Amino acid sequence: MNKYRIGAIFAVLCLSMTAFSNAGFAKEPLKKERSRSHIELDPANTGTYTGEAGKDNYIANCSPCHGETGKGDGPLADTLGEGVKPRNLSDANLLSARTDEFLFKVTKSGGVSVGFSESMPSWAETFTDKEIKQIIQYVRSSVCRCKYKSK
Ligand code: HEC
Repeated sequence: MNKYRIGAIFAVLCLSMTAFSNAGFAKEPLKKERSRSHIELDPANTGTYTGEAGKDNYIANCSPCHGETGKGDGPLADTLGEGVKPRNLSDANLLSARTDEFLFKVTKSGGVSVGFSESMPSWAETFTDKEIKQIIQYVRSSVCRCKYKSK
């Protein structure tokens, strides 16, 4: 009788321990590996990048100079040196004269690559090509609200 009782108690203990530890694992959310915390690529896993990915990267990395709305009035805008101003990326006239390829090149390889100021940094080390395209897309859709128009 006693033997059985001990056995039963032992069994209950084991069961509850596995139950608890399983519950503990199940409730622990999977931690995402992210090298840059502001980047949220494809959070819904739909296979396409969301507009928000470009926005987050723009706000975190470009707005310090270009400003949140792109007017070239970010907090660093006045620190770049004599006569150097971040471009007004909300200027639809200017940006509709630029191809996406051009905007991509300036952003990826920096101002110097197209004869602009070195104050416009290269982002090749920070972003993948896809991320840069996403940022350009965001600039098109929400900052200048414009597309390239050939003259
Ligand atoms: C440290 C300040 C700074 C940061 C940060 C910065 N830029 Fe710039 N950017 C500039 C400056 C300054 C210019 C203008 C260069 C010139 O006048 O020669 C410029 C120019 C540009 C241009 C050229 C526009 C044209 O005339 O065709 C693009 C596009 C651009 N930036 C995009 C970006 C993007 C996208 C980011 C973020 C990934 C970014 N910039 C971050 C300073 C910055």
